[in-house]
Formats: sequence, structure tokens, C-alpha cells
Amino acid sequence: MSDIHENPSPQEIVKSYLDVALSQAHEKPANSEQLCAEIKADLKANDAVLVAHYYTAPELQALAEQSGGFVGDSLEMARFGKQNPAQTLIVAGVKFMGETAKILSPEKNVYMPTLEATCSLDLGCPVDDFSAFCDANPERTVVVYANTSAAVKARSDWVVTSSIALDVVDYLDSQGEKILWAPDKYLGSYVAEKTGADVLLWNGSCIVHEEFKSRGIEDLKRAHPDAAVLVHPESPKPVIDLADVVGSTSQLIEATRKLTNPAFIVATDQGIFYKMQQACPDKQLLIAPTAGSGATCRSCANCPWMAMNELDSLAGLLRTLGNPETEANEIHVDSQTAQQAMKPLGRMLDFATQRKG
Ligand code: 13P
Ligand code: SF4
Repeated sequence: MSDIHENPSPQEIVKSYLDVALSQAHEKPANSEQLCAEIKADLKANDAVLVAHYYTAPELQALAEQSGGFVGDSLEMARFGKQNPAQTLIVAGVKFMGETAKILSPEKNVYMPTLEATCSLDLGCPVDDFSAFCDANPERTVVVYANTSAAVKARSDWVVTSSIALDVVDYLDSQGEKILWAPDKYLGSYVAEKTGADVLLWNGSCIVHEEFKSRGIEDLKRAHPDAAVLVHPESPKPVIDLADVVGSTSQLIEATRKLTNPAFIVATDQGIFYKMQQACPDKQLLIAPTAGSGATCRSCANCPWMAMNELDSLAGLLRTLGNPETEANEIHVDSQTAQQAMKPLGRMLDFATQRKG
């Protein structure tokens, strides 16, 4: 009998991490007010700022706002961490966000409530397989989504987030460049269709956005004909095709401010409702339907890894900040990888600054 062990496929890797995330999901603790007060005091005492993504629990987003930290999309989180003078960054989000913060601010200490909070796109794009894909297509410019490991970024020419992907690929196409895109096939297809660029896709997907169903959105739209449909571009094409607005998390929140519709059908993680409610308090927010509990859906518009950022673990981290036990929560990126990854990240940040100016 053969003794050969094949490496697990990206799908198997995603599943094993997903099982861990789902088994660790907890309810909001009963003493949450006391924990929030403690966290605010400890942030101040440690010259630390909390940088949170829109998909984290509302109480974490509120804490970031109230303590002089920040809530934003993945591009804005990266920018804030770099520009803020605090020596210690606490990133409530998923691991690629912590790594990006560390690469941009190598002199700072970057911690996360748990380093097990990862992302199916990152997991589904192991660096060795990805490098082989790049090596097989040397004539292409390598553009990777921010939802990747530091090592994958280090192998790329450009990093993009969903808020800037269209503009960057459009620019590269205008320069006559052919693109190798990874890892999200839905965002990559959307960008290719919109820009007309020649894009070769990696086969990755987000387990949360992949579950939104166009049939369910059509049914909801029939019941709420005045509602605008807002879709994150990690969703499948039939869902994107129904959208009034396609955009990053920040762009979708901005749409709720600008559009006059009385209601919105939202195809992204439900954590975003905290900020959307602030942006349009008088409007109705409806979550776009997923496959539901009877089908393969195990996420149902809630990223299981974002949900691993909990008040308890954040408070525990801050209590012991700087002690040896917090080592397990600190982000480290080896300096060679960080320097390599900084090049494509820097290109994105410069591009974003020029576009604004
Ligand atoms: P944004 O860049 O739009 O915040 O998206 C990050 C993400 O992980 C979406 O699933
Ligand atoms: Fe990754 Fe999807 Fe979670 Fe975003 S929602 S962090 S893309 S798994």
C-alpha cells in the first residue's frame, strides 16, 4: 500500500479552519458594559488604538469609535494604522488586516484578539501553489486582493482592495498589461467584465458572499419594490447583476447616505448594519437571503472569522499587553517578506492618493 500523503486541497484547508471558527462562536458576555469600560481604560494606559472592520460585532465598532480608534474598510484600516501616532495597534478583523498593518508600520506592535481569525480567500491561496501559477504565466502582471497572506502579497506586483480594484485594473489595462488575478474569482470576473481587461483568474471565493442567492433577492425585491440592492463584489455574478450599487463596505455605506430609497437590500456581512443604521437611521435595512440553514450555508451573512473578535478576548489581551503571554496575539511578518510585500502595497496606497488628489 502506498504511503504517499497528498497536501490538503485549498477547500480542505478552508473547511478545517471553518470548523474551528464555528466551534468557538460565543454570545455577547453578560458583563459587556464592564468589559467595555475596562478596555477603554487599558487602551489609553497602553497608548494603543483599536482599528476595527465593519464586520466585527457592534460593541467592538462602538468601542473603536468611542476610544479614538477607527472603523473602516480594509483599505482605510491600513491607512489609519500607518498614520495614527499610537505605538500599539489592536486590529479587530481578520489576520490579513493585522499583517497589512504590520507591513505598513513595522516599527509598531500589532496585536489581534485572536490570530485564528482568518479568511477563506487567504486560506484558499497557499503561497507555493500561487507562486507556481505565477511562474507558469510570467507575461502577466500579478494583482492580488488584500485578502491574502503576506507571502502571497510579496509575490505580487500590485495589491488591491475592493474599493480600488476596478481603477487599478483599468489603469493597467490602459497600459496594455495582461493580468493574473487572485484569489477571489467573483471579484476578478466582475473587474474583468467592467474594464474589458485580459484577466486570468485564481479559483478562490469568500464562503460568506458566495451564499447570497439571486432568486431570494428577486423575491425580496418584489416585496420591497422601492428598495435599492447593495452588493459587495465578492458575490456571484447573478447577485451582482441585480445590484443598484456594487462596492466595498465603505462604498455601500456611502450609498445608503446618498440614495433616496426608503429601504436597502444588502448583500454583505450583517455586521455592516451597525454603521448603515448610523448613516440612514430612518431607513429599512434588509439582509439579502442566503441559501438558508437547510442547504450548504454555514455562514448566513456572518463571517465566522470576524465573529472570533470578542470582547472577552480583547479585554484579556489588553490586561496582559507586553507580557510574554500576549506573544500569541502579536503579528509578526519576517522582514524580507514584509519588504517585498510593501512594494505592491505601496503602489496601491500611492495610486489611491493620486486618484484622490
Ligand atoms: P472591504 O475591503 O470592502 O472592507 O472588504 C473586506 C472583506 O473581507 C469583505 O469580505
Ligand atoms: Fe474573508 Fe469573506 Fe470573511 Fe471577508 S467575509 S474576511 S472575504 S471570509
